[in-house]
Amino acid sequence: MKALLIDGGEPLRGTVSISGAKNAALPACVAALLTEDPVVLHAVPQLRDVSTILYMLGALGKRVVRNDAHVSIAAGGALVSEANAYSVGQMRASFLVLGPLVARLGKAVVPLPGGCAIGARPVDLHLEGLRALGAQVEERIGSVLVTAKQLTGTSIHLPFPSVGATEQIIMTASLAAGETSIHNASIEPEVIDLIDLLEKMGAVISVSNRTIDIVGQRSLHGAEHTLIPDRMEAGTMLLAGAITQGSVSVSPMPAVHLEAFLDALRATGCEVEVDGTTITGRSLGRARATSIATAPYPGFPTDLHPPMAAYLATANGRSSIQESVFEQRFAYTRALSKMGTRMIQDGSSLMIEGVPTLSGRSVEAPDIRGGAALILAGLAAQGRTTITGLDHVDRGHEHLEAKLRSLGARIERRESIA
Ligand code: UD1
Repeated sequence: MKALLIDGGEPLRGTVSISGAKNAALPACVAALLTEDPVVLHAVPQLRDVSTILYMLGALGKRVVRNDAHVSIAAGGALVSEANAYSVGQMRASFLVLGPLVARLGKAVVPLPGGCAIGARPVDLHLEGLRALGAQVEERIGSVLVTAKQLTGTSIHLPFPSVGATEQIIMTASLAAGETSIHNASIEPEVIDLIDLLEKMGAVISVSNRTIDIVGQRSLHGAEHTLIPDRMEAGTMLLAGAITQGSVSVSPMPAVHLEAFLDALRATGCEVEVDGTTITGRSLGRARATSIATAPYPGFPTDLHPPMAAYLATANGRSSIQESVFEQRFAYTRALSKMGTRMIQDGSSLMIEGVPTLSGRSVEAPDIRGGAALILAGLAAQGRTTITGLDHVDRGHEHLEAKLRSLGARIERRESIA
């Protein structure tokens, strides 16, 4: 069993270079299905989720060439309309291939998605969006068959600004006849980055408040695009500095993508300085308690809830977190409590009674961001923390140990522990 060993208590100091965003990379790779031409992406993080999507695109008929952070996705033969279960079972974002395949081929069969076990995470909004565009959706056991003779633009109101459903509909509508408006759409920076790429591919899209208008095109062409930096990685690294009472800078990172998070960090007494695309978080001592509520962008990002909870677990006083995106995102609290945190979950709320010290223990990461929470706790804890469940951690964090080590953390990976 692979494990991360962390000897905690070292204040972290220094600057971390932030990788391209995983959640921008996945839809950007899928967007390559919308054209015959090559799509070239830069700043693509080397993560298991990215490998999964590239493997899937290869199986669907694309020719994928990867060179470090650069990926080229071109036509490799005829596109295949049936996605394999392996990739979709690994990761929910693979479901995004559905609309682009239907738009290109008029038919697709895609298994229902897997991914982090954080609640039911249905795909009803994706399917309703495709139906609204004129597709026929047949739900089978474990998969969906979607067919469309013609996709036609329409007006779609999302009951919740789902990131994935917004991306699915934007990509599909880019090749539909006429105009589509998505109301109450997600406007996460990663969605806007996808729109930037699609515009480079010839799509015509405008965004105003939470409404996204897409004018469908007959075809799209190739493009070259550099992904935005990963705000979840940046937030996690800033918290690593704060929880160890050190000082960490992250770069490049546009502060506008992290405003709600930076406000919360400031509320804990951490000094936050923004200089161009460099953000520095400087701890001035033990954190003050605070209350946060997760929300779609520009609100506090749900993916930074578990790392923030680990930090607040060491704060002076009682904090609370209201989770309003994924109600069942609390699996990490059980592992954290082994390390001495005092947390009480009530439905989608978490009450955190801060403690002055945490203790190193053996814990297992339950999901990507829960894994980040355990790592942060381990960095602050007294003694050694051993973290297993690294398959989850590796899905979302590029060169994690090396980056933390460069800040002074005592962290190492063992390929096998007894
Ligand atoms: C994306 C991110 C994920 C992040 C999440 C919320 C990627 C690859 N992943 O996931 O890291 O935590 O946004 O910011 O970008 N829902 C439905 N029906 C649907 C779709 C979603 O009920 O058809 C619900 C989900 O169950 C969940 C909520 O909407 O409660 C948010 O999901 P969504 O915004 O779609 O997240 P993902 O795109 O899966």
